[in-house]
Amino acid sequence: MKLKLAPSVLSFDMTSLSTSVPQLVSGGADIIHLDVMDGNWVPPITFGDALARSVRRHTDCFLEAHLMVANPESQFEPFAKAGCNRILFHIEGSHHPHRLVEGLRRLGVGAGIVINPGTPVSAITELVPIVDMVLVMTVDPGWGGQPMIRSALNKVTELRNLRPDLEIEVDGGVDHGTIVEAKRAGANVFVVGSYLANQTDFEAAARNFKIRMEEA
Ligand code: DX5
Ligand code: ZN
Repeated sequence: MKLKLAPSVLSFDMTSLSTSVPQLVSGGADIIHLDVMDGNWVPPITFGDALARSVRRHTDCFLEAHLMVANPESQFEPFAKAGCNRILFHIEGSHHPHRLVEGLRRLGVGAGIVINPGTPVSAITELVPIVDMVLVMTVDPGWGGQPMIRSALNKVTELRNLRPDLEIEVDGGVDHGTIVEAKRAGANVFVVGSYLANQTDFEAAARNFKIRMEEA
């Protein structure tokens, strides 16, 4: 599987994304990860489709929206129209996930399902064959900068065995050190927020992380 770096803009200065996003992309970012929180399903509020549209104006990079909101299906069309290439929703927040995957297909965007650290792989067995990506949360959603819950990586290995060609993404606490375990577990897409945002040169930060990702 091709290894991919997906910087999350969550911990970046939101008023400077027009410069930081292109810097991350020239450093080799493969995907820009947009963490959408509604202050209801998770306590913080981040941003909506208007920000995704603004980011799209500044890059051609693949954009994915990670929806941490109540009634995620209400946001499918706005984020698709804003230029997102893939939309990820939580199994814990949806009553009819199979139908939601079909809804994303109809909109012409990639479909991803997300599981929290407390959710077993068995909760999504029926969806694994029909989605483009599974995102395994390695922290509980809501905040950047939390330490990785390493036991969640066992689910990555389980999923890799279930479907070897699946895009498996990990999100939460991924840094220079934990990338090694995440990669060994079988993940191929790595969301990285605070570790990149805490550096001064974002282009170099992304480039160095890509090197680390390949060597880990
Ligand atoms: C948490 C978000 C993550 C977060 C990752 O709810 O889904 O994408 O930004 O941030 P770090 O890399 O700081 O753990
Ligand atoms: Zn995320």
